[in-house]
Amino acid sequence: MPLVKDDKTQRAKLFVNFRENQLLMRKTTTYLLFFALSGIALYSCQVKTEHVSEEDPASTSTTEDPIQRGAFLVQVGGCNDCHTPKMMTDKGPAFDMSKMLSGHQANIPTPAYDKAILTDWVLLHPQLTAAVGPWGVSYAANLTPHETGMGNWTEANFLKAMKEGKHLGMDNQRPIMPPMPWQGLSMWPDEDLKAVFAYLKSIPPIDNLVPAYQPAAM
Ligand code: HEC
Repeated sequence: MPLVKDDKTQRAKLFVNFRENQLLMRKTTTYLLFFALSGIALYSCQVKTEHVSEEDPASTSTTEDPIQRGAFLVQVGGCNDCHTPKMMTDKGPAFDMSKMLSGHQANIPTPAYDKAILTDWVLLHPQLTAAVGPWGVSYAANLTPHETGMGNWTEANFLKAMKEGKHLGMDNQRPIMPPMPWQGLSMWPDEDLKAVFAYLKSIPPIDNLVPAYQPAAM
């Protein structure tokens, strides 16, 4: 009898062990399943993100329309500051966008100035479209595609002017004068300069023959 009893106890113990093992296995399976599912979820998120960035046209500048990029670069590059005439508004001076980027206006006479102060000072016209300094008098160019502006310029002229500071983008011409910041622009990637040129070719042409640069009297 004790044998039988022991046997029963033994069996009962074995059964308990078996149940415990079963529970443990279920738990383990649940954990494994959980990790596997999270893995799949994470992986699919990653795949989705990669997929989105491949297709998003705004994520790389190379896919951007050059004229749009050029418009943006002209805004942030401050070209309007010197190349667009100003008008007075109740909020202070503003760009006169009806004459956008057409340079110093032909009908504005150059005011007289005291040449003696030019050893110590540089003068700016109130329109900020002309400047007087030791280099002479310089007038911001007409950048619109009118024939009095950049109508006859090629992309190659524009790149040479911006990268080498050559007037009209031609080798046999004078250097481009201050305060035109071509030295900074020469560091822009070619693609960006080409985008600026494409934009300038797309804006409304404005008839305005900017006065010629006057070298300093020696
Ligand atoms: C601080 C004033 C100023 C800013 C800012 C400026 N310019 Fe000018 N720019 C001038 C002046 C002044 C001239 C005339 C220089 C001369 O006659 O040598 C000029 C001339 C030019 C010319 C004609 C160069 C030549 O003589 O052949 C081009 C093209 C030009 N600018 C493009 C730009 C572009 C594009 C921007 C903006 C990214 C810009 N400029 C920003 C003042 C400026």
